[in-house]
Amino acid sequence: MRATLAIVLLGAFALGALPRHQSYAQDAAHGPASEGKRVFQRANCVGCHKWHGAGGGGYGGDALSLRATQLDRDQIIETVTCGRPGTGMPYFQRGAYDNEAHPCYGMGRQELGKDVPVEATTFLRPTEVGAVADYVVTEVKGKGEPTYAECIAFFGEGSRVCNVYKSPTAEGAQPSKQGG
Ligand code: HEC
Repeated sequence: MRATLAIVLLGAFALGALPRHQSYAQDAAHGPASEGKRVFQRANCVGCHKWHGAGGGGYGGDALSLRATQLDRDQIIETVTCGRPGTGMPYFQRGAYDNEAHPCYGMGRQELGKDVPVEATTFLRPTEVGAVADYVVTEVKGKGEPTYAECIAFFGEGSRVCNVYKSPTAEGAQPSKQGG
């Protein structure tokens, strides 16, 4: 299951990575979900759901936890593509509610009125939405509390933003220098 996904993603990598050797090489070191991770950062999912996906208060309102989500890959794709009407979750497909032939959720701007979701600041192509959905499913969904190791995997070795996740007993942290 996971292996199949990895193969599919690696295939997508091979096709998509040609003009970007450098970032491809770097990301390859971080596993098959890295294309999705890149989208997760670039499309600013992190702005509302945070790097760990657990969300919290932000400028889009309370973003739901993607770690606790019950949605499957297709539902995540739909949510990202179309946003969620009446909430702060924006839509990432250009013109999502302007395509009369294939309107999101079968509803156009007319029907939704003021509940049309906000437009994301970055639009995503379907392949990018698929990649970020894969990332959420494999790297975020079902995870418990964010850990120091996870944070370092996200931001890179030595990232100080991760220090808040260090347990006082581990990593030689000094108990006297707490509170920040
Ligand atoms: C402007 C803030 C904002 C941004 C940016 C944003 N989200 Fe959201 N997202 C939300 C909010 C708020 C909700 C909760 C909607 C609700 O109350 O039902 C949400 C809900 C979701 C859900 C539904 C979770 C569930 O269990 O129902 C998914 C999946 C999701 N976001 C994925 C993403 C991804 C992936 C990105 C980046 C491509 C992203 N979001 C960007 C604010 C945001």
